[in-house]
Amino acid sequence: MTKLKTAFFCQNCGNHYPKWMGQCSACKEWNTLIEEVIQNPKKTPIGLSKTQASSKPTKIQDIDNSDNPRLNSKDEELNRVLGGGIVPGSLILIGGEPGIGKSTLLLQISLFLNIKVLYVSGEESKQQIKRRANRINSNSKSCYILNETNVETIIQQINSIEPELIIIDSIQTLQTDTIESSPGSVSQIKESASHFLKYSKKTNLPVVMVGHITKDGGIAGPKILEHMVDVVLNFEGDRNHIYRILRSKKNRYGSTAEIGIYEMLNDGLRQVSNPSELLISNNKSPLSGNAIAATIEGIRPIMIEIQALVSSAVYGTPQRSTTGFNSKRLNMLLAVLEKKAGFNLGTKDVFLNITGGIKIEDPAIDLAVIAAILSSNINIPIPHGICFAAEIGLSGELRNISKIDQRINEAEKLGFKFLILSDAAKISKIPKKIKILQYSRIEDLIKNLFKERD
Ligand code: TYD
Ligand code: MG
Repeated sequence: MTKLKTAFFCQNCGNHYPKWMGQCSACKEWNTLIEEVIQNPKKTPIGLSKTQASSKPTKIQDIDNSDNPRLNSKDEELNRVLGGGIVPGSLILIGGEPGIGKSTLLLQISLFLNIKVLYVSGEESKQQIKRRANRINSNSKSCYILNETNVETIIQQINSIEPELIIIDSIQTLQTDTIESSPGSVSQIKESASHFLKYSKKTNLPVVMVGHITKDGGIAGPKILEHMVDVVLNFEGDRNHIYRILRSKKNRYGSTAEIGIYEMLNDGLRQVSNPSELLISNNKSPLSGNAIAATIEGIRPIMIEIQALVSSAVYGTPQRSTTGFNSKRLNMLLAVLEKKAGFNLGTKDVFLNITGGIKIEDPAIDLAVIAAILSSNINIPIPHGICFAAEIGLSGELRNISKIDQRINEAEKLGFKFLILSDAAKISKIPKKIKILQYSRIEDLIKNLFKERD
């Protein structure tokens, strides 16, 4: 009897070792090595493989890609994030925290599309999925549900049903007969995904797969999974808030700067096409600690409200807590404030929230963060109608940011009266309804922010 060949795979990064070790020497994680059965690939001497003989190089000018229209997912947000719809033959991986709404999003897309879709679920029963479909309030005649985890059986079913879109929920539950390790292990995930990769490229069928994520936000399983697929999307948001953001981390067919915004309602996810109006509160009398930032996500301008609360620290170490904002960046801004505005770091607790639980990566939000902190610190509201857009440098200078004109347009459209920018910002056309104030340092902002304007 031949002995089964095994190796120890790191469940975090996918590296493998002949012996067990406490720590993976590649990614330095502890206790992630698990023994898995491996099979030697059939060795074919180089130059003799059949597939090598059958594929020939083609001149790039002779490659025809004209008959490849994208599939319209009927979901404007998803279309935008994908760069204009689902590309035939593409493999899309969508990751996100448990309970964030991945299954809801994909079921919704399957139900609203008028084409044949096969939704494969290895996690939920058909009844559970039906219940979710009832909640979403849609009854499609061409959406098939399959409860199966075996890749070979799934492919058989795909061949008989002939769907135009395949959804796999989730890749971690799949298991293929070609290798013997248990479902969810690194080699199973990799192997199952590679079956679908080959299948989708051969048949030109788009496949969307759900991927679970690990503690630190990466897709569980080997990193190689993200390299294999064409598109990696992240569905994120704060579960306690209703807003969800679809962000692309990798996209072979479009930009990764675009985001999609959804609201999780009782009857499924609703696309948010006018985010600015929802994300700022319409308080007639301004509150201290609130400031509005004119941000850009992708090519879309979004006005966002920042809320800060500064209070005297009760315990020895002051607390810093943020939602939606990088806490290291907050510490940097606080240090700048200490140096430039005499803000005493050691004696203050600082809490910072971006409303709606949305995570914003645009550096132009810095100035609004500073303004919100200043306002909460002295407990005076920022006068009504002011918004901000500038990055802050380490020496307290206001730095220029991109897409100034779009930010001005959006702020003007929403009825703001003043936009504060860096004096390095070049404005191509002076706007009519909004006044632009430009400062070079935060000292100037502090001097002028709370004074009366007409
Ligand atoms: P789900 O799609 O199961 O999340 P995931 O697949 O990412 O784990 O979403 C689950 C959450 O969404 C659940 O907590 C309930 C909520 N939800 C709604 O608020 N409204 C709805 O219409 C649906 C279907 C779910
Ligand atoms: Mg799910």
